[in-house]
Amino acid sequence: MKRVYIYGFGNIGRELITYISGNKNLVISAVGDSKASLYSPSGFSISEIDKIIGLKKGKGSLDGLHLDGITQNEAMHHYWSDSGIFVDSTGASSMGAILARAIEGGAYVVTCNKLPLVSDDKSARTIISSALDGRASIRGTVGADMGIPDALIHELNSVHDISSIEIRCCPSGTLNYVCTAMQEGRKFSEAFNEAIDFGYTEPRPSMDASGSDVLNKAIIMARLVASHKKIDYSQISVRHTTFFHGIADERFAKESIEYSRDDYKKITPSLDAPFSKRLSNLNGSVLRYVASVVYDGRNIQVTTGLENVNSEDMLARLRGTENAFSIMVNDNALFFPAGKGGNSKGAGIGETAHALYTGIERFAG
Ligand SMILES: NC(=O)c1ccc[n+]([C@@H]2O[C@H](COP(=O)([O-])OP(=O)(O)OC[C@H]3O[C@@H](n4cnc5c(N)ncnc54)[C@H](OP(=O)(O)O)[C@@H]3O)[C@@H](O)[C@H]2O)c1
Repeated sequence: MKRVYIYGFGNIGRELITYISGNKNLVISAVGDSKASLYSPSGFSISEIDKIIGLKKGKGSLDGLHLDGITQNEAMHHYWSDSGIFVDSTGASSMGAILARAIEGGAYVVTCNKLPLVSDDKSARTIISSALDGRASIRGTVGADMGIPDALIHELNSVHDISSIEIRCCPSGTLNYVCTAMQEGRKFSEAFNEAIDFGYTEPRPSMDASGSDVLNKAIIMARLVASHKKIDYSQISVRHTTFFHGIADERFAKESIEYSRDDYKKITPSLDAPFSKRLSNLNGSVLRYVASVVYDGRNIQVTTGLENVNSEDMLARLRGTENAFSIMVNDNALFFPAGKGGNSKGAGIGETAHALYTGIERFAG
């Protein structure tokens, strides 16, 4: 029986519970939110879990919940010395140090939280190295449940004498939705505002529109390569431009960082004309927000930005919120989605929760 400790009980954490509850080899021994955590060495009962889910669905905090025989703690730090499975389904950058200590204490780590992996402190290196060594699962951080980090790790660990790697991808469901809607003749504002209404965007849409979310995913893939090749993360060069580069003043991207979803909906019509001008110069290609990670045998280069993509390119074929990736190691190329009917959903609550569960199952033995 493996103990699972879940930090973060929002959309993803709550969905994850439905998968874990069906597995008799797992018990949920701790849950935590931003205020407190609850600990039960023998595992929570179904009715206790139901109470916790009900409380979190109603936007309550764990510090307000008192269950008989359950310890209330501010932190779960002392639970991880029993090789349990520590899950991070928060969006907090501060989780990095906690995850690194969990790994050092003997726990397995499963995370869909990108921020600790792109931070500058040494915890990022610990978590990424552990992902390469099979003690951490970061499957849900890139491409939801498409298996992108797992596939890259597999290539890095199994291909001998890697002299080059080239990854090209469109890893943002939101930006892919907007680009393909514009390709079908819709206005930018209609497409972007619809992406907000359908819940595709992050709570702060600037995370999507600035390209930061895409950049974070590219950095995670670049760092997997860097850790494998023993290249310092500071040596990874980055060329990043936002989704609005060449469309709106760069000042716009800066000023809109804190805009809410409603603020965004008001300002998007002002970008319809510049986007329409950009689209009129495509000469048969299509517009995509593309990330690439290139290792040439010595250096690693990350590039993100709007590109005119040839209509024969696999990145041109994606539709709606689908994601697409190609990973070329030496001369061997892998494509995602793989073949007809392959999983192309690179975002979503169910997909991300399932990606976490896949990692948990791996460590549950
Ligand atoms: N939603 C998606 O489709 C999707 C897809 C891919 C990846 N992700 C990633 O999955 C993660 C979770 O997303 P979500 O949609 O579930 O977010 P969410 O609904 O906002 O939930 C986040 C949870 O984390 C908790 N939390 C925040 N800071 C914490 C801290 N310092 N310590 C402990 N718990 C903390 C929050 O506590 P409170 O309840 O007290 O606020 C909340 O329970 C994020 O990293 C996100 O980028 C989400």
